Amino acid sequence: MKGLILSGGKGTRLRPFTYTGAKQLVPVANKPVLFYAIEDLVQAGITEIGIVIGPETGDQVKQAVGDGARFGARIEYILQDAPRGIAHGIKIAREFVGDEAFVLFLGDNFIRDGIAAQVRAFRDNAMNAQIILYRLDDPSAMGVAILDSTGRVTRLVEKPKQFVSPYAVIGIYMFDRNVFDAVNAIKPSARGELEITDTIQWLIDRGLNVRAHLLEGWWIDTGKMADILEANRLILDILESRNAGQVDSASRIEGRVVLEPGAVIVNSLIRGPAIIGERTRVENAFVGPYTSIYHDCVIQNCEIEHSVVLEHSKIFHAPARIADSLIGRHAEVARADGHAKTLKIMIGDYSKVGIL
Ligand code: G1P
Repeated sequence: MKGLILSGGKGTRLRPFTYTGAKQLVPVANKPVLFYAIEDLVQAGITEIGIVIGPETGDQVKQAVGDGARFGARIEYILQDAPRGIAHGIKIAREFVGDEAFVLFLGDNFIRDGIAAQVRAFRDNAMNAQIILYRLDDPSAMGVAILDSTGRVTRLVEKPKQFVSPYAVIGIYMFDRNVFDAVNAIKPSARGELEITDTIQWLIDRGLNVRAHLLEGWWIDTGKMADILEANRLILDILESRNAGQVDSASRIEGRVVLEPGAVIVNSLIRGPAIIGERTRVENAFVGPYTSIYHDCVIQNCEIEHSVVLEHSKIFHAPARIADSLIGRHAEVARADGHAKTLKIMIGDYSKVGIL
């Protein structure tokens, strides 16, 4: 089997981070979301992987991922000229996939327990397609599956306005070659995209063997801000302590903490679960639970918890504890001159600041 990861798209729900970076490269516990998808495929024995990239962020994705050697995989890139839908991503991967079966993985989808069991079930049961379902009280922002009394998928509805079923279809699918007939037959939807739901419905309508697997562990679509913090929390909860950095005698490390190579902790308290990135310096500071500070940052004279800080950012001073926050790349928080009780801020488009 091969793997196909979609990593195009504009990431509008993750602005402002996605103005300068691909949403699939936003780090969760200091690792780009996309890397988890590659690792899940490799762990399931799938090492020939195609990544569909977009014109704006494609080069960044290529640079971050490379040829796949570091993952034990062979990676090829397929350029999609514009976001024309998930099924369009399949269509343009025809040559890469050939006649093999494949796993389609949306690069911002994230599950805890990997896909090895589902890949095995797909192979063993001669399926034409397999979808993975996740029970949600309100699945209206997703594709939704309707099952009959025997658990067979009878119908799929994309983002239903009215509740039809609690089973959201997550962004990990398995297909055999029949899917290429489907993507060539369907027409663009009202939003102008070739929809994956229409593709699978086409297979069902032709009587092909489409099965569903109900996911037990957690699933997250990291396309939204709150979901990044949640994914970060979930991964930090299962991370093992590791210290490849330096801690001075005035500092304390409590709980599960990862210090990546070159991290320096001076006169600070780090209370895990937390991860401090490569070459990041933490000085006179408190880093509290569920915080990931990425590479090459400076955290000084401040308190921060339940937050994600991206690379090359500097927090020199903060009069109140920073919490529940996402701080982008090359951002800076520092002491301002001028009057007390004024705020001096320069923030990017679509940014959000919460002030008490
Ligand atoms: C897409 C699919 C939807 C699926 C979801 C999974 O939605 O159209 O069927 O449930 O991915 O993440 P989109 O991200 O385009 O809104």
